[in-house]
Amino acid sequence: MREVVSDAFYQRFGQAPTVVVRAPGRVNLIGEHTDYNDGFVLPMAIDRAVWIALRPRPDQRVLLHSLDFEQAAGFSLDQLRHENAGWVEYCRGVAWALQEAGYSLAGWEGVMAGNVPIGAGLSSSAALELATARAFAAVSGWPWEAATMARIAQRAENQWVGMNCGIMDQMIAAAGRAGHALLIDCRSLATEAVPLPPGTVVVVLDTATRRELVESAYNERRAQCEAAARFFGAPALRDVTLAEFEALAGQLDPIIRRRARHVISENERTLQAAAAMCQGDAVTLGRLMDASHESLRQDFEVSRPELDTMAALARQQPGCYGARMTGGGFGGCAIALVETAAAPDFTTQVAAAYQAATGRQPKVYVCTATDGAEVV
Ligand code: GLA
Repeated sequence: MREVVSDAFYQRFGQAPTVVVRAPGRVNLIGEHTDYNDGFVLPMAIDRAVWIALRPRPDQRVLLHSLDFEQAAGFSLDQLRHENAGWVEYCRGVAWALQEAGYSLAGWEGVMAGNVPIGAGLSSSAALELATARAFAAVSGWPWEAATMARIAQRAENQWVGMNCGIMDQMIAAAGRAGHALLIDCRSLATEAVPLPPGTVVVVLDTATRRELVESAYNERRAQCEAAARFFGAPALRDVTLAEFEALAGQLDPIIRRRARHVISENERTLQAAAAMCQGDAVTLGRLMDASHESLRQDFEVSRPELDTMAALARQQPGCYGARMTGGGFGGCAIALVETAAAPDFTTQVAAAYQAATGRQPKVYVCTATDGAEVV
């Protein structure tokens, strides 16, 4: 990808780019729908990313050519206005949020390309936001502070793009560590890098379904979680223990009860998963991933049949420790934790089994854990 954007830059501008940045997509190993409950998540930045080759401009303009959309777009930093212009709103929104936070921004121009599939639940939008933020940091000359940039990118997504997401995707795109997943405390944004169990890989299982109508369902889940926290008199569900939940669960509305049970148990599973990883315990990690999927399916109700089928088929393959949907749900990708030696057979067999079961052609591939947003 580096050559792709650099060559395209050269063709367009007749010289080599001054700076090349990349920001990755992610998979989440466990800790789903916990981020907006101030809880714990355990994502990993992956070797699929948004890349931008660029050079500074002497004026206050940003001009960007997207190779994927075959489209050029631009804006002036002096007057940022929302124009509903598709992908560039993510870039403009980051510029807006950076200015709101008091950063002074220099203009730049460049070429962008990415290989994070869109709508697959691998956070292509956070990758675009953090690549944009990284570009601004590089040309404007201020240091990269991952957690601060993640908050700013989240603000862009919440208030400019209008998607009310939590902090996970932006934080892992900003702060990922090669070879590791990050245990993130979504309240303090403290992170701890935890290695994958030795001899295992994470396999992405793209169901070839895309998320539809997710925004209203996502906002509804958020509201249900807030209602549950209010019931317990807690600032967030993060603050409610499983014992406290069980003592009062009978008094809760049944739907709210299931939503709360997912979040509270998922926070526990996430902490247990990080501890298992620190001990190199793939079996426990896999079991927790399976349990997470079941909780998301039954209690949080954000799975769909193709994700369930994919996870079930994955678990049947030799060398698979566990499998679950990843990301917000309603379509997109599942992931599996697989013994490294078994991975080649696993990928072909699970793809064939899924296609036979659903008639859809999936994409199944091993991913590796990369660093977060960086100048390369
Ligand atoms: C989406 C959101 C994240 C998080 C996940 C669910 O990816 O962008 O903030 O809430 O869903 O874990």
